[in-house]
Amino acid sequence: MIKIDDKKGIFLLYTKHSLMILQVIDGFVGMPYYGEKIRLAETEYLCRTNVRPFTPDKLSGEEISFQNTFPHAYPFYGCGNFRETAFRAEQENGTDTCCLRYIGCSTFKEKPKIPHLPQSFTKNCNTETLILYLHDEQAGVLAEISYTLFQDSDVIAQSVKIQNQGEYPVMLRRALSSCMYLEGDLELITLNGTWARERYIQREPVTYGVKSIGSINGTSSHVHNPFIAAVRPETTETQGEAWGMAFVYSGNFLACVEKDSQDKTQLMMGIHPETFCWELDSGKSFYSPEVLLNYSSRGLGRFSRNYHDFIRNHIIRSKYQYQERPVLVNSWEACYFDFDSEKLLCLADTALACGMDMLVIDDGWFGHREDDTSSLGDWVVNEEKIPEGMEWLGEQIQERNLKLGLWFEPEMISPDSDLFRKHPDWAVRIPDRGMTLGRNQCVLDLTRPEIRSYIFRSMADIIHEADVAYIKWDMNRQITEASTPSLPVHRQKEFFHRYMLGVYEIQERLLKTFPDLMIENCAGGGGRFDCGMLYYSPQIWCSDNTDACARAEIQLGTSLCYPPSCMGTHVSACPNHIIGRNTDFMTRAHVALAGTFGYELNLMRLKQAEIQQIQEQLKLYHAYSHLTREGSFYRLLQNAYHIAWQFVNPEHTETLVTLIQLRNKAFQPQMHLKLQGLIPDSLYKLDGKCYTGGQLMKIGLPVPPLWGDGVSSLFYLTIEMTEG
Ligand code: DGJ
Repeated sequence: MIKIDDKKGIFLLYTKHSLMILQVIDGFVGMPYYGEKIRLAETEYLCRTNVRPFTPDKLSGEEISFQNTFPHAYPFYGCGNFRETAFRAEQENGTDTCCLRYIGCSTFKEKPKIPHLPQSFTKNCNTETLILYLHDEQAGVLAEISYTLFQDSDVIAQSVKIQNQGEYPVMLRRALSSCMYLEGDLELITLNGTWARERYIQREPVTYGVKSIGSINGTSSHVHNPFIAAVRPETTETQGEAWGMAFVYSGNFLACVEKDSQDKTQLMMGIHPETFCWELDSGKSFYSPEVLLNYSSRGLGRFSRNYHDFIRNHIIRSKYQYQERPVLVNSWEACYFDFDSEKLLCLADTALACGMDMLVIDDGWFGHREDDTSSLGDWVVNEEKIPEGMEWLGEQIQERNLKLGLWFEPEMISPDSDLFRKHPDWAVRIPDRGMTLGRNQCVLDLTRPEIRSYIFRSMADIIHEADVAYIKWDMNRQITEASTPSLPVHRQKEFFHRYMLGVYEIQERLLKTFPDLMIENCAGGGGRFDCGMLYYSPQIWCSDNTDACARAEIQLGTSLCYPPSCMGTHVSACPNHIIGRNTDFMTRAHVALAGTFGYELNLMRLKQAEIQQIQEQLKLYHAYSHLTREGSFYRLLQNAYHIAWQFVNPEHTETLVTLIQLRNKAFQPQMHLKLQGLIPDSLYKLDGKCYTGGQLMKIGLPVPPLWGDGVSSLFYLTIEMTEG
């Protein structure tokens, strides 16, 4: 609910459990409060504007001494604000000072669309949007700050539209999407890592000065995820305050946190300004991608579930979102580049015998690709490996009652490819400079429509020809020498954002052309795991690290923001191909069950007993996957020895608990695993024994000791139905 008091210049944004206050003071909009839902009476004192010494204090006779301490809803550079800013626009006279003053507001029942960008949608849910108009007369710039509230959620979607209403072009140097202010002691949580070690949780105190994470490599990146949380030092999984920002964008981003001299902390998120500029002609608009703001007063668990529900209901559009996903076998870890049609059909037959639903042919089916040195861009069947053609292979797969999935890396071009020989200028490069290769490949200039059309057409042809049900969209290098001949010299820094718009456009076109197509996004594992990608695909390959113990940590970190149901998770072979660890076959399945579930190993090498184990694992998947898709997720335990999590169905009558023993410890105390999300007075049944929900949550579930490292247990409890 949005309440506006025009006279007082107060905007109250109420979600289910939170309140955000925005207030106009002397023509500037501040955010004096964002936190737990409360009732208000006196409001005069909220945005403090008391004069500070040693600060610019008058502008054309007007009091502005509060600028450097004011909690600006959209901070700009100029007029005495010396903290990090969300907005900088270079004007005709070469300066970038601005003074964005409030000139009005509107509210909408329909959420306004953000053109060409992924964004939250409002299906089956009432929403309200508040737009605040901030204006700088000299620059002729209007900033429209938009907040959308969803009746079923505590998440607020924020974005900004910048309009040039002046006579001359302005150059946007910074157009971040969101800013929030918090007071008091805070800790910052970020998800960091690298390839095969994505999204490990870091929690650190917020101290004076600026701390930022971000990416300038063209993807949201393996290194930092476009998500941050601020929490109180005392916040745990089950109690305390937590605020979050998650970016609905997959390219370069900045998240920065600044604690100022007055102990206020400003958190901002948006496109990374270092690799961005945008020329805004007179009469034109620029749209910043959306940020999802989140507040929980009930710990990080509730905070994550807020995001999970929101992402499932308002970001992932795919019709597969709440459907049981096909269990697939992927050829990558099964045979890498070493396959032909005979081997693929053997894999398909074994997959069928195990009870799987889909064969995904990963890297290597196209051009003359035998390893990673060639053929990206030549999306035609590799006749050496599949001489009968993809249409034939598709038919063979379908005759077996399986579906076919194909891997693509649409954004890339190999120097050794027909495409490169024909269009060497399609690769991103700076003329007269060397061309940096990554994994022997270059990036296609997707800012250019003719290149996007070529990629779309070549993918569409093969998807159509072989009746492809699923594609894995991969992206295996960072972008260097960013430059395009399609833009004049002074607009070269528009490249990165235009590139991202190009990627989104192709995915959108594919989904429009093939409404039943399922896309799984991937970027060298989890290098682009973000809400932008989830708008196009219901699942993202979580990491190239498929070791069960490492994956349990990666999946747990990822779950801070993203729902498990969107995590691509496969059972793979041992010793693990990334870290060489051996884990129990069942543990690998237990970890993969907390995601989309599939296999990535050479089924033909398995012994009969292992095939039977797979059949058992598939039974577990079919019995419990509804909990992963529709249930609520609880992180129960994470330390050097154990990780435990739990899914609970929406009715709180069923729960699935997973305990992973990373490594064993001698003479461990008897473990009582404290569960969450149950009905305290109901009886839950396990192996003929009954426990009350209260008992399971306060005393815990007795867990038999596990033997060895990389082993696990799964517990499924249901409510004991009373007769009558
Ligand atoms: C990186 C992906 O993450 C892997 O799963 C696999 O598809 C390879 N690329 C193929 O080159």
